[in-house]
Amino acid sequence: MLFGATGDLARRKLLPGLFHLATSGFIPGCQIVGVSLDEMTPEEFRCAARSALDNHFSRGIDEQKWEAFADSLDYVSTTSGPEALAAAVKRAEGELGDSPDRLHYLSVPPNAALAAVQLLADANLVARSRVIMEKPFGIDLVSAVALNSELHEVFGEDQIFRIDHFLGKEPAQNILAFRFANGLFEPIWNRNFIDHIQIDVPEELGLDQRAGFYEGTGAYRDMVVTHLFQILGFIAMEPPTALDSASITEEKNKVFRSMVPVEPSDVVRGQYNGYREIDGVDPESDTETFIAMRCTIDNWRWAGVPFYLRTGKRMAEGQRIVSIAFREPPKSMFPANSGVGAQGPDHLTFDLADAAKMSLSFYGKRPGPGMRLDKLSLQFAMHDTGLQGDVLEAYERLILDAMRGDRTLFTTAEGIERLWEVSTPLLDAPPPVRMYSPGSWGPNAIHQLVAPHAWRLPFERAWRSPNALGS
Ligand code: BG6
Repeated sequence: MLFGATGDLARRKLLPGLFHLATSGFIPGCQIVGVSLDEMTPEEFRCAARSALDNHFSRGIDEQKWEAFADSLDYVSTTSGPEALAAAVKRAEGELGDSPDRLHYLSVPPNAALAAVQLLADANLVARSRVIMEKPFGIDLVSAVALNSELHEVFGEDQIFRIDHFLGKEPAQNILAFRFANGLFEPIWNRNFIDHIQIDVPEELGLDQRAGFYEGTGAYRDMVVTHLFQILGFIAMEPPTALDSASITEEKNKVFRSMVPVEPSDVVRGQYNGYREIDGVDPESDTETFIAMRCTIDNWRWAGVPFYLRTGKRMAEGQRIVSIAFREPPKSMFPANSGVGAQGPDHLTFDLADAAKMSLSFYGKRPGPGMRLDKLSLQFAMHDTGLQGDVLEAYERLILDAMRGDRTLFTTAEGIERLWEVSTPLLDAPPPVRMYSPGSWGPNAIHQLVAPHAWRLPFERAWRSPNALGS
């Protein structure tokens, strides 16, 4: 069952993702019941789904496959009540036979999630079910605890899949492969060798379409407490005892337990000029559309290593970068003007874009007489492997995992509640928002926040284009 079946996320990601999963054989025997507040017939829903695919499915639609997919779609409005919901599921299950598993995807605003859960309970659709919940999972510790306890009245924790689509991104999972499948980097993945880390996710898009949702949310709740902290968990965690859900969750939660509560003095909140003029935004809004912060993880591996996080809307570039800055060596042996150290420390950089890239920068000798040093880099682009087409989009991967009952890439009540707990000092006394120009990198105060270091973005040296490699 797809709740919010006519909403933005369903149109852009979920329906195209389900179509891809269904038509590439990942989920044979799947019937989809769309659910939303809208009154429409199943046929109208099929038309809406087709137009979602026309606009957002980039792999090309095979008409025969579409016909088969369209046949698997049904629709029921929430206003028709629990009996109609139960009847639609019965119809769908009639097509499948036996007692198929049920997956309820709640792609609905936070205030509608519990009502949807209650509807499922009233329709007697809890058995054989898993439920995917969309963020935000509360807005602070108190509301998160209350939400979890209300959810637990209907669904067991093992039935609840809290989705964080950043964890479904292929390059995010590659962080785990890179760290734990290689002997090269893990030995230096600690405070003795790493100076600081940046997780930087600037976005170019603005909020004109989503102001209603965003005004009550802001960048911290929308991006940091969910996506950026989860990536931080992957970067900072200890090697799990196994590559399974319980072990990975345990290690991530240990990182979150070691996080020092976020002090307002370690945070810069920003708002882009023009945000307050958007329809639905308070003309005196204090909502941040930008945030930069310093986080501390007080454990043996990371004590003293600052983690700098930044994200915002209407910024200069859209990027998703994790940047590891290594400690610098003594440079005493190099002659004056050699250029050693002049271009910052060596960096390992993960680009979490859909076409993932990675780079390791280092100093090397410039050819010719004497000892002049340049910053060079080793670069890897997934594009070059020829396997880019095999990448599952984040939502596809996570829907498939939820159907298979694999919780590895989902977040848990305990982890989320801890993240709200460390957020309390900031949420209780947020620093005032500072204005920034659209198209910039945020308010000026971001430079003091990272001093004596500097933000990696904008990059001084552009990525080599994959096509240019070898030329
Ligand atoms: C969503 C946030 O979860 O993630 C959006 O609500 C944000 O504000 C989006 O733009 C970014 O995701 P992606 O995959 O487009 O980088």
